[in-house]
Amino acid sequence: LESEIVAAITACEDLAKLEDLRVAEIGKKGRVSLMMRELGKMSPDEKKEFGPKFNKLKTVLVDAIADRKAALELDALNARLQSERIDITLPSRPAPEGSIHPITQVMDEVTEIFTEIGFSVAEGPEIEEDFYNFTALNIPEEHPARQMHDTFYLPEDEDGKRKVLRTHTSPVQIRTMMAGPPPYRIIAPGRTYRCDSDATHTPMFHQVEALVIDKNIHMGHLKWCIEEFCRKFFELDDVKIRFRPSYFPFTEPSAEVDIGCAFKDGEILIGEGDDWLEIMGCGMVNARVLENVNLDPNEYQGFAFGMGLDRIAMLKWGIPDLRDFFAADLRWLKHYGFAA
Ligand code: PHE
Repeated sequence: LESEIVAAITACEDLAKLEDLRVAEIGKKGRVSLMMRELGKMSPDEKKEFGPKFNKLKTVLVDAIADRKAALELDALNARLQSERIDITLPSRPAPEGSIHPITQVMDEVTEIFTEIGFSVAEGPEIEEDFYNFTALNIPEEHPARQMHDTFYLPEDEDGKRKVLRTHTSPVQIRTMMAGPPPYRIIAPGRTYRCDSDATHTPMFHQVEALVIDKNIHMGHLKWCIEEFCRKFFELDDVKIRFRPSYFPFTEPSAEVDIGCAFKDGEILIGEGDDWLEIMGCGMVNARVLENVNLDPNEYQGFAFGMGLDRIAMLKWGIPDLRDFFAADLRWLKHYGFAA
């Protein structure tokens, strides 16, 4: 009997059937249990003979069932591990990926170049007071230069002050000089606004301002800074640069800087050809501006420039239309490798 039942247990292929088998044999009303109940009716001698045999049989069956159960459970676990296995060598599903906007990339790069040669970064608000954006920069009310700027004006506030969206980053010059004593060596990258829109102008654009004020600063310093910047930014040992006399109320003398380039088949190439593209305005800080911030022009002098970041970004990648930078068109960003 023992070997018959043990064989049935070992042959059992699933846990439910094993349980049925256990109930049928050693459950309360199971075959072996019922047989053991017969013991009560036996004579003492028979009890002595069969008692231990039955007990041994029961132990063997309990152990056999437990072993089989453990084996079946292990099989089930292995089967589950097998079927739920993850193939980590499969490629992942593509997920949309963010990237740094080209203008931000240029801004970071420009900042890095200037911080390497000793400039620190200054900031000012985009919603600016008329005083910082114009008056302190030697552009009084009614000055024709205000019209040059196509200013976005904000409604007057309670105290009758009219704020503007800053038309350039030059107000940061004033804020810097009013915040503490010279010397100053700062750049101020940021957004600027003018009511203007065509292939090379957008109502919102970016500039980086530079201001250097110390004793004995002259135009040679200005020229070197700009040349050094262009060499690094355009990765050319020999960039063609032209200083063209110009006018800004806050610098004297003033110049505009053009970079030598070629316009070929709707593309712009740097370091070739004999065309010119304007990239910045610059000059020696006007004595009037220094006086406006209580500096003595006989003691302190310096230079400033304001560069169009979007312009140099166009040049760097040969992108002919500035408006594309702000159209948020993923296909365009992908085409130029600005998005994955
Ligand atoms: N702020 C001028 C502009 O926006 C540029 C400039 C800055 C010129 C500093 C001279 C000095 O056109």
